[in-house]
Amino acid sequence: MAFRFWGHFQRQFLTCHKIILLVAIGIIVGSYFIFYSPDLFQKSETADKISASGYINSFDIIEGEKLYQQNCASCHGSQLQGEANWRSSKEDGSLRAPPHNKDGHTWHHPDRILFHITKFGGGAIAPKGFNSNMPAFNKTLHDVEINKVLAFIKSKWPKEIRQRQKNISDKDKASLSQ
Ligand code: HEC
Repeated sequence: MAFRFWGHFQRQFLTCHKIILLVAIGIIVGSYFIFYSPDLFQKSETADKISASGYINSFDIIEGEKLYQQNCASCHGSQLQGEANWRSSKEDGSLRAPPHNKDGHTWHHPDRILFHITKFGGGAIAPKGFNSNMPAFNKTLHDVEINKVLAFIKSKWPKEIRQRQKNISDKDKASLSQ
């Protein structure tokens, strides 16, 4: 009798422990998703770092990709690969659209210049008389949309390239505020 009671007690006790253990695991895994998971709840570290102006999030990057495919891909390539033979200029001396991925020189420029070229076109920064094929988008895209397209482009760069371009932008900002 006493033996049976002891067996029963042991089983109960173990079940109870298992439940406590399961609940504890549930709490740990649950809080991981709530506080650290980048995809749920839009806490995307990458998107935050890419943000030039502080209001770009993962949804904006998705929209930026759409705008990119509609407005930029025809010249710069749907995979950001640039025009074929982009390193050699055309017969009329104008340039071909360079890639926007890490192989191009988009990331050599600070945010201010990337925004300026997209808004006002290649002619806005080129020397007088230079025939640019990069159109101005000030009539097609709002400033916010330009920032979204640029955020999408940046989201395709490896972390190290993003950091280097950020340093270039920070230097540029510092030199302007002097
Ligand atoms: C009709 C073709 C064409 C379209 C469309 C186009 N570009 Fe360009 N883009 C060019 C060419 C060509 C250049 C090279 C510079 C020049 O000729 O002025 C260039 C250069 C650039 C540069 C400078 C890159 C560098 O490394 O110096 C940026 C930034 C840029 N484009 C962004 C965009 C964005 C963003 C879009 C879409 C919103 C876009 N372009 C759409 C043709 C185009």
